[in-house]
Amino acid sequence: MTILDKTGADLLFREAYTSHAWTDKPISEELLKQVYDLTKYPPTSFNSQPGRYVFVKSPDAKKKLAACLMEGNVEQTLAAPVTVIVAHDMKFYNELPRTYPAFDAKGFFESMPAAIEPTAVRNGTLGGGYLMMAARAMGLDVGPMSGFDNAAVDAAFFAGTEWRSNFLINLGYGDVSKKYPRGLRLDFAEACKIV
Ligand SMILES: Cc1cc2nc3c(=O)[nH]c(=O)nc-3n(C[C@H](O)[C@H](O)[C@H](O)COP(=O)(O)O)c2cc1C
Repeated sequence: MTILDKTGADLLFREAYTSHAWTDKPISEELLKQVYDLTKYPPTSFNSQPGRYVFVKSPDAKKKLAACLMEGNVEQTLAAPVTVIVAHDMKFYNELPRTYPAFDAKGFFESMPAAIEPTAVRNGTLGGGYLMMAARAMGLDVGPMSGFDNAAVDAAFFAGTEWRSNFLINLGYGDVSKKYPRGLRLDFAEACKIV
């Protein structure tokens, strides 16, 4: 049985922290592709893969995004080399004949429209979580944010499409001189039950 060694577990979990300040070290397009190549593997219901990821990198696109943010998120977002809009495609089920051929899952969603949004949001959120782990695995730091106007981001980036924003993730190399102490984590007895 193979398990992640201590170095890997430290990188992904124990030493990883939320970054709010960034060095100016850039992120190449190649590295973003490598991050997605890890993000795509974990499971989603019906292998539905509703997560969609917009890597906001150019100064113009960053400005457009900054106009949608809560004040406290503007500086950190403009300083990060890349900000990911974690989104979901409300028409994700059109891909299901290709990604889940064992069952007519497309027909299932077409006949159960109430299941579309919760499936898109649940599995799209997992995708954002996986992307954070993938980024950390590639040596990047992450700064997730929900302090923004989703409708404004959808209008600015997704007009005329079925993509909808969920949350944002700043990506880059954290400025350790401005690192916050890690927040307290609940222990097993507080957060878990074995029944
Ligand atoms: C979904 C989500 C939304 C968040 N929204 C914001 C935000 O709008 N602005 C911000 O500065 N931090 C935001 N955070 C960062 C959290 O406050 C931070 O990850 C948490 O306190 C743990 O910090 P630590 O990893 O440094 O211990 C968000 C985190 C998550 C996962």
